[in-house]
Amino acid sequence: MTEIWVRDKKFSLFLSESEILKGIKNVAEKIKSDLREEDPLFICVLNGAFMFASDLVKQLDFPCELCFIRLKSYEGTKTEGKVKEIYGLVEEIKNRNVVILEDIIDTGHTMYGLIENLSKQSPASIRIATLLFKPEALQLAIKPDYVVIEIPNDFVVGYGLDYEGHGRNLRNIYKICD
Ligand code: IMP
Ligand code: MG
Repeated sequence: MTEIWVRDKKFSLFLSESEILKGIKNVAEKIKSDLREEDPLFICVLNGAFMFASDLVKQLDFPCELCFIRLKSYEGTKTEGKVKEIYGLVEEIKNRNVVILEDIIDTGHTMYGLIENLSKQSPASIRIATLLFKPEALQLAIKPDYVVIEIPNDFVVGYGLDYEGHGRNLRNIYKICD
């Protein structure tokens, strides 16, 4: 199906599952060569990154850990939103090589706040792996280490990403119709 409805909005097919998985394999190869000896801790940012995290770690054939966090932002508009609190991080990240797994970097505010917060716990290193990256929307100096697919500044849904809580289950990624 190339056009779908999620709640009140129409979306059209943008990235197929096979394109997404091909991109994830490429990123997995880079991660394998960079981090094979590092026993990295992958931190999956829920809810959006759950499918990405699952498909990525299945490609890795070296010792690593995976954990899951949720973020709570300050009230306010999205661009003012700063990460206030991290929920669920029970793992000790001091001296660990951390890789954040995110669904999408849009303005970069979420990632900026998350890195600021995690840095206080003195990890050995922090890398960013994001499924999608909207360089045109970026407002802060965030440089993801691993990007599966760069996309234009359009709202997308599917493969973990939601619109009003819906659409996360879709296996392809869809772009909002004008
Ligand atoms: P940022 O703080 O502006 O970079 O936004 C990051 C968060 O906004 C992501 O983790 C998503 O939850 C959400 N987001 C940004 N763009 C999209 C989109 O196109 N579709 C779904 N969620 C999005
Ligand atoms: Mg998110």
